[in-house]
Amino acid sequence: MNVRMIAIGLLLLAQAGCTPDPKSGKGFTLPEGNIERGQQTFAQLNCQACHTVAGVTFDDTETLTDQKIIALGGAKTKVQTYGDLVTSIINPSHRFAKGYEEEDVAQDGQSKMRLYNDEMTIQQLVDIVTFLESHYSVVQPAPTPYGPYFY
Ligand code: HEC
Repeated sequence: MNVRMIAIGLLLLAQAGCTPDPKSGKGFTLPEGNIERGQQTFAQLNCQACHTVAGVTFDDTETLTDQKIIALGGAKTKVQTYGDLVTSIINPSHRFAKGYEEEDVAQDGQSKMRLYNDEMTIQQLVDIVTFLESHYSVVQPAPTPYGPYFY
């Protein structure tokens, strides 16, 4: 093995380190959906049985009495990307909504959210995500109040 081959080998190794995991979401982009249609679909699928959406009132809400309402939309300190939203909908147990007691969001490690994968079309998913995204805003977290610093 000569020096050149070692150099090429090292280069390949370095490149392998930069290659995204085959399961990574890199390269995944949804087409633009329609906000209005998304809101209609959200209501049609009765997502509001367990959710409120900031700034939206739904006409007929059949709430499930034993399910804690999980608020969607509103001001968050971290951007809710469409990747986050799609994952929350098609793979709810991947991670649970923050700010709730475990028992309100999950049971035996599984999300309490209903799975829609066998009934929701991709167009419906795209529209719902576009609708939800339009109701999230990002706020700066309040800075930690530090007292004056004296030398
Ligand atoms: C039976 C109740 C129930 C229904 C119906 C339901 N969800 Fe959920 N949903 C939950 C619960 C509980 C959570 C919190 C646990 C989790 O993150 O999976 C959640 C979480 C979410 C989150 C993530 C919120 C966050 O802050 O991370 C999104 C987005 C969401 N749901 C969208 C939907 C949409 C869209 C529908 C309708 C197609 C729907 N849900 C229907 C119970 C429900």
